[in-house]
Amino acid sequence: MKVAIVTGASSGIGQSAAIEIAKRGTGVILTYGNNPQGGLETATAIEKEGGTAVVLPLDVGETGTFAAFHDTVTGVLRDTWQRDTFDYLVNNAGFAHTSLIEDTTEESFDRLMRVLLKGPYFLTQKLLPLMADGGAIVNTSSNAAATAGLEPGYSAYGSMKGGLNVLTRYMAKEFSTRGIRVNAVSPGSTRTRIADDAFTRFPEVVPALAARTALGRVGEPDDIGAVIATLVSDASRWVTAQNIEVSGGYDL
Ligand SMILES: NC(=O)c1ccc[n+]([C@@H]2O[C@H](COP(=O)([O-])OP(=O)(O)OC[C@H]3O[C@@H](n4cnc5c(N)ncnc54)[C@H](OP(=O)(O)O)[C@@H]3O)[C@@H](O)[C@H]2O)c1
Repeated sequence: MKVAIVTGASSGIGQSAAIEIAKRGTGVILTYGNNPQGGLETATAIEKEGGTAVVLPLDVGETGTFAAFHDTVTGVLRDTWQRDTFDYLVNNAGFAHTSLIEDTTEESFDRLMRVLLKGPYFLTQKLLPLMADGGAIVNTSSNAAATAGLEPGYSAYGSMKGGLNVLTRYMAKEFSTRGIRVNAVSPGSTRTRIADDAFTRFPEVVPALAARTALGRVGEPDDIGAVIATLVSDASRWVTAQNIEVSGGYDL
């Protein structure tokens, strides 16, 4: 059985991606940050459909924990799937914090950098020896890093996602020697718990976002999760180094 690791799968896009990947017959190691309950809910949804899931804690902003995570994954792969390797990595965990450039603190910039850019870089580095040749990686980026339609306040967040887009292409280049494909998805506004549950706190933003979206609504987690699952699957075997916007045509 193929096995995927999905980070930040305790809610939103990562939760949907983990469930969609499992639906296609792949075992899933899913991680959570502060919400173990959410991780368990994802695993329960996977198991209800006959899939296999293992839930692990992981702070993507703490690179010092990655060696221990690697060792835990090694044990999980052996015990659960009798394997030494896994096949797919979805670097999805992330958070948003917005502030104008003039108000952004170094602390907030550094935290965004650690979670959104340094984390995926070094987690991938650490897990690469455990990845099977011919596998696939998907990085969850954002249309905040797009070249048009910028919103004030996303400078630090969008810069990290822009870095992740560049990193995606370098990963695709370097890992191609092992047949590992690497792509990014760039969601538009998607109704998740992002930014301290901003969609619940400010429901009035939804109609305005929908009005700017060609397909006429905001995104839902499953809109993105299905694309991530397709990108890691064999259906996308000839796709690498791409950044696919999944926004329903935002600002089209
Ligand atoms: N929603 C949007 O509009 C949108 C648009 C573009 C891109 N994105 C990107 O989509 C990805 C998923 O976000 P989402 O919208 O699904 O938000 P979400 O519902 O808040 O989910 C975020 C996930 O990431 C985890 N996470 C956050 N910080 C972490 C850390 N330091 N270490 C480990 N896990 C951490 C959370 O875990 P816990 O809750 O367990 O801590 C949760 O599982 C992010 O990379 C985000 O930047 C979202």
